[in-house]
Amino acid sequence: ISQLLPADPSKPPLVFHWLPFVGSAVQYGMDPLTFFAENQRKFGNVFTFVLFGRKVTVCLGPQGNNFVLGGKSTVFNAEDAYQHLTAPIFGDDVVYAIPNEKFMEQKKFVKWALNTDAFRSYAGLIEHEATEFLNHDSNYKAYQSGKTDEWGTVDALEMLAELTILTAARTLQGKEIRSRMDKTFAHTLSDLDGGFVPINFLFRNLPLPHNWRRDAAHKKISQFYVDIIKRRRENRRDDEAEYDIVNALRDQKYRGGDPVTDSEVGHMLIALLMAGQHTSMSTGSWTLLHIAADPELGEKLFAEQVQHFRRPDGTWNPITYDETKDLPLLDAVIRETLRIHPPIHSILRHVRDNVPVPQSLSAPSENGTYVIPKGYYVLASPAMSQTDATVWDRPFEFDYTRWTDNTGFAAQALNEYTDESGEKIDFGFGAVSKGTNSPYQPFGAGRHRCIGEQFAYLQLSTIISKFLQELELRMDTPVPRNNYQTMIATPDSPRMIRYRRRTPAN
Ligand code: HEM
Repeated sequence: ISQLLPADPSKPPLVFHWLPFVGSAVQYGMDPLTFFAENQRKFGNVFTFVLFGRKVTVCLGPQGNNFVLGGKSTVFNAEDAYQHLTAPIFGDDVVYAIPNEKFMEQKKFVKWALNTDAFRSYAGLIEHEATEFLNHDSNYKAYQSGKTDEWGTVDALEMLAELTILTAARTLQGKEIRSRMDKTFAHTLSDLDGGFVPINFLFRNLPLPHNWRRDAAHKKISQFYVDIIKRRRENRRDDEAEYDIVNALRDQKYRGGDPVTDSEVGHMLIALLMAGQHTSMSTGSWTLLHIAADPELGEKLFAEQVQHFRRPDGTWNPITYDETKDLPLLDAVIRETLRIHPPIHSILRHVRDNVPVPQSLSAPSENGTYVIPKGYYVLASPAMSQTDATVWDRPFEFDYTRWTDNTGFAAQALNEYTDESGEKIDFGFGAVSKGTNSPYQPFGAGRHRCIGEQFAYLQLSTIISKFLQELELRMDTPVPRNNYQTMIATPDSPRMIRYRRRTPAN
């Protein structure tokens, strides 16, 4: 009924919906970008929609990103927005289940595993896992048989799901944990993963089987970590075998002097493993799909590999971290993949205080403000600004040359963006800029920006380099559409890739 009354002009316009409570959940859930684009045409960059009884104000464009991601955390709060979803998966003493100041300290602890020295040691480990995977996994028979004239087929997403977890486990979790991860662990992890569904954003404990499985899996995985820590405590000598992230986290202290508890160590490790899993597996599979769909691009990328890594006898030098930073074509392909397929399409914050939003975000000529009331949510969508036709030439076309050609449209447009101190944003490999007003933000921006960007680039460029060196890739179907119903956007089916082993000479 309220929708039939004259709209309150002090609030952002409300998207019309037929079903009370459910609101626009179906349109948003099926295809958020089409839903945003339709309402952007009607209302401009700022509008509100109802999502299962919650009011969500969408703020689009680079200015919308800036407004949401650059907002004060006391007003725009991530914990309130994400804790129903993440606390049962990660644990009640880490990440969004605790005050942000404490989580910021935990982010700092975890960075022990995310520095240049660590990355240097990871490159070889990731390459080793990828090589083992290609050589010994029975799913990849054509490769295993060593025959060069046989084509095999594989589901790109399923393959990357396996590779991402294996490589992240070996690097970010350490040797002991990786060696203890058996098939049962993978099943338990997949039950835990089943808790990552959009409805859990809003309701933590609906009595549904996927939540029961999630809770049982969380208990089991927490125990797995706590047992390892306990064993090490009881036998400190073992402990010294490889000083890994478990030891490093256990040795940390919060600013007030409190030690990190065993449960927190375990839960931080779960969070670290899960935060990068869907995002990296989705990006990796999209990258391979684009390469398979364009054999000419595949050959150019192969030539880049030959130039960097191939020995005169046709064998390959090891892939090093420093060298992965010097592969401009592969870098451009991953970057362009993240532009049109960013795994995270919506970034949400809960509004803790009434907050004015300039109407000019919507209509540049307007000087007034709307007020977003306390209790609403705000939403930024880098996926929208990354395909905004006012910034990007042919926004929906996969064109990696926009990143290799410095005079190209994308490069020029991005040159206009600065971070909050007025510095030009560095869009170079592994960019660390925190600029909240950039139209290109696959890793978010501001206080909650991703800490895994450089690791993800290393992981993806090493895995894909190995594939390029060893295999030719093809596809018989077009590059798939984005599937938004998996909470992290993934390639829809069919997404089968054909692959064939290269001979040393080609
Ligand atoms: C946060 C994207 C890989 C750890 C984020 C955010 C985005 C993002 C957009 C911001 C969320 C927000 O503001 O609400 C990605 C993409 C990845 C990736 C596209 C891969 C291609 C990783 C990896 C790790 C990781 C590998 C861990 C090693 C985190 C953490 C946060 C985060 C801990 C939370 C930061 C906070 O709320 O303060 N990521 N991520 N991510 N990411 Fe990533």
